[in-house]
Amino acid sequence: MLPQEKELAQSGASGLEMGERNLARLEKLVYQKHQLALSSYRPSYIHRRINARIRSLRLESLTAYLAFLENHPEEGEEFIDTLTISVTSFFRDEETFRALAKKAVPELLRSRDERRTELRVWSAGCCTGEEAYSLAMMFLEADPSLLRKGGLRIWATDIDQEAIKYSLQGLYPKDRLDNLHPSLIRKYFQKQGPKYQILPEIQKMIGFKRENLLGAGRSGFEGMDLIMCRNLMIYLEREEQGKLLFHFERSLREGGYLVLGKTEFLFEPYRSTFQPVSVSERIYQKPFRPGALEQAGGR
Ligand SMILES: C[S@@+](CC[C@H](N)C(=O)[O-])C[C@H]1O[C@@H](n2cnc3c(N)ncnc32)[C@H](O)[C@@H]1O
Repeated sequence: MLPQEKELAQSGASGLEMGERNLARLEKLVYQKHQLALSSYRPSYIHRRINARIRSLRLESLTAYLAFLENHPEEGEEFIDTLTISVTSFFRDEETFRALAKKAVPELLRSRDERRTELRVWSAGCCTGEEAYSLAMMFLEADPSLLRKGGLRIWATDIDQEAIKYSLQGLYPKDRLDNLHPSLIRKYFQKQGPKYQILPEIQKMIGFKRENLLGAGRSGFEGMDLIMCRNLMIYLEREEQGKLLFHFERSLREGGYLVLGKTEFLFEPYRSTFQPVSVSERIYQKPFRPGALEQAGGR
């Protein structure tokens, strides 16, 4: 099964009657408490997730769930966590990371040397941390000196607080490391009982933070060299996808890279805003303004 299919399967089968009034009530409750607009997501996805939550609580209807939600304040957080699907892995879609290492990383390292700045990378929708740690390993494999202070800074955000806690811990069972070459495991992890702990010096490079990407209070990142947002937009309505792409475009520096998931696409006007680097791997670049390249000393 492809990971995307697995995600859809995990999102649960639909079935229970929702009722528009009840849905509107749920939307209002979630928005008031968590500033998350359910309408940002595709209705089919939202319905499946609500159904899955209702079933796991062994309730019979959305009406019963609303009553439960009102009587159990902690359920709000649980609901948000249910909304999120935590399928991920180290170097997920290995070819994408390979293409990045070949096409983007050398250029980013060169430009970092010229600009004498830190590399700024953002894993948006980082889930349980594998994506952010993979990015750190990818850059360190290309240039181990980045480990020195100020070499590489990664921000990694997700709306799911449990996923962020997991990421911060950086302790993974062996089967989660299946995608990793043994040499990477030896270099970047320490065995801790039956699990593997990512090295503290790698953890220090990454700032994990719980954040709603669709909320008004999201971080105003700027000057990013690379933004990876994979397998998140697929769940959003087109309008929200557009808002996110706009936000990413603003957050990238000229020449910075955007990486989407394999089933996600750029659409107009964003298709013209970014330059394709590898369409099959969904790697795009924010173009330099005319003349900016010469000012920056060329590429
Ligand atoms: C399927 S996972 C993808 C993880 C990783 N990017 C990958 O491709 O392996 C989607 C992630 O998006 C997060 N997410 C969904 N809606 C979000 C939002 N509004 N703000 C931030 N993160 C969100 C979920 O919590 C989940 O961890």
